[in-house]
Amino acid sequence: MSKFVIEKKGKLEGNVAVGGCKNAILPILAATLLTEEKCVINAVPPLSDVIALCSMIKEMGIFLDIDQKKQCVSVCAKNIESIQTDYQKAAKMRASFLIMGALLARCREAIIPLPGGCPIGSRPVDLHLKGFYALGCHSEQSHGFIHICAKKLQGDKIYLDFPSVGATENIMIAATLAKGVTTILNAAAEPEVIDLAEFLKKMGANITGEGTSTITITGVKKLSGTEYTVMPDRIEAGTFMIAAAITKGDVVVENVREKDLKPILAKLSETNVKTQKVEENAFRVYTNTKLQPVSLKTMPFPGFPTDMQAPFMSLLSVIKGTSVITETVFENRFLHATELQRMGAKISIDSRSAVIEGVEKLTGTQVKAMDLRGGAGLILSALAAEGKTEISDIYHIERGYYNIEKKLQKIGASIVKMT
Ligand code: UD1
Repeated sequence: MSKFVIEKKGKLEGNVAVGGCKNAILPILAATLLTEEKCVINAVPPLSDVIALCSMIKEMGIFLDIDQKKQCVSVCAKNIESIQTDYQKAAKMRASFLIMGALLARCREAIIPLPGGCPIGSRPVDLHLKGFYALGCHSEQSHGFIHICAKKLQGDKIYLDFPSVGATENIMIAATLAKGVTTILNAAAEPEVIDLAEFLKKMGANITGEGTSTITITGVKKLSGTEYTVMPDRIEAGTFMIAAAITKGDVVVENVREKDLKPILAKLSETNVKTQKVEENAFRVYTNTKLQPVSLKTMPFPGFPTDMQAPFMSLLSVIKGTSVITETVFENRFLHATELQRMGAKISIDSRSAVIEGVEKLTGTQVKAMDLRGGAGLILSALAAEGKTEISDIYHIERGYYNIEKKLQKIGASIVKMT
């Protein structure tokens, strides 16, 4: 099984570029099924989640080609041979559930496995289904699959009890080809939702309000093929920013958008990490004073992103003083804390809060990535820990970070992937 071996090498310095955003790519790939025409998606790193979704789409008899070198995916869903997705693949990745909205819009029917549990929480899909039922769908469950169908999709008002990113995206995808107007109230306002809306609008969809809590979709008869470049990954950007801060380095993080990073930049600034916009799409991150502990709470956008919680915990674990992190989005997202404790971090967990007493130094040891972002947090801690750290189960990390070891090597880190 592959692992990362990391040794502390001091300050990271230089420039590192962020790739296309995983959480925007997955719904956009699902949305390519809305048209019979060809769509070309650029800035698609061959992350394992992306490859898995692509192979699921291919297994439905849909033409799909990945050019890994150019990081470009072409899809032509002229023919959809199967409206059912494979359990083994779907179980690995919850975003596969986004295929449901596209299939309902195109074929009025889908058979999708119920997504299983997930290490970070139970992650139900009730809000996705609530939206589809409002659009006129009905469903049956048997043998672990949901069979959902509708005679026609009719727009309606849908109130989400929580601004779920996935539910907002799935409903938005389905509603593009529904009859009449669909309004999603208490919608997610994440930048990835906006990116999906931008893509859908390029296909000819009529959407307003994306990026706010009310999104209105007026159904159209048909959507067309298009070419689209996915937004940069704000979580990868934040991860490199913390890599600079935790090693007291000086790094320029390129291919980022300030508007996506506001909560991350604000919290870095509260810790005294300096962030300076050096170009339209580049931020220099460095430290020149003592860092301060902070308290933070994860929230839907524009709140602090839950996906940055683990990386931030790694930074706070080496800042003298007491920091408190409250996780409000997922109920079990402190799995990484136990591994950090093995590296010498002082963290106590009480339900949804983590109290972190910053220590002078962490020490390298053998640790295990428990989930994607927690695994990224372990890499960050390892960059600052005395001695050697070995991180196993890195397949979690590779779901969302492409060539992270190469990018970190470029800015001076000692990190090797052992296969
Ligand atoms: C997406 C992101 C993930 C990120 C999360 C929150 C993708 C592929 N993944 O996940 O990286 O951490 O947003 O920003 O984009 N919920 C329900 N019922 C539902 C749906 C969700 O109760 O039907 C709950 C979840 O259990 C969770 C909360 O809502 O507690 C947020 O989940 P959601 O926003 O849906 O996250 P995802 O779309 O799965």
